[in-house]
Amino acid sequence: MSRLVWLLVAFGVMMAGQASAQPIGDPAAGRRLAEAWCSECHAITRTPSGAPRQGPDFIDVARRPSTTPLSLNVFLRSNHDNMPNFILQRDEADDLVAYIMSLKE
Ligand code: HEC
Repeated sequence: MSRLVWLLVAFGVMMAGQASAQPIGDPAAGRRLAEAWCSECHAITRTPSGAPRQGPDFIDVARRPSTTPLSLNVFLRSNHDNMPNFILQRDEADDLVAYIMSLKE
């Protein structure tokens, strides 16, 4: 039991350290948002959708050399013709970007 507590504490410290070193969103939260908002049109996991979707698979977007956190942020904050314009809070956009970039690894 106490071991579990220590693990949680260590994890918390780790996450806190990460947040200050690299304040660009939380991939886990981004994944939840992507499931809720994006999965209708995009394959959002590492596994390709198989079935054709309206939008590109996130893994393919992540692997493109031209994709950077900045380019994704710009895309998500600009107007699209074929994709709905989401009104994202800054941290939501950062979480989504962090999630998409995490697929690349
Ligand atoms: C109603 C369908 C739909 C939904 C919902 C949707 N998208 Fe898209 N998305 C598209 C389509 C279609 C494209 C291709 C648009 C284009 O190339 O103009 C696209 C393209 C993209 C791209 C690729 C841009 C590029 O550089 O090629 C990204 C990144 C993206 N969407 C992110 C998201 C995120 C994040 C969400 C959820 C918050 C989301 N999409 C929800 C339809 C959708």
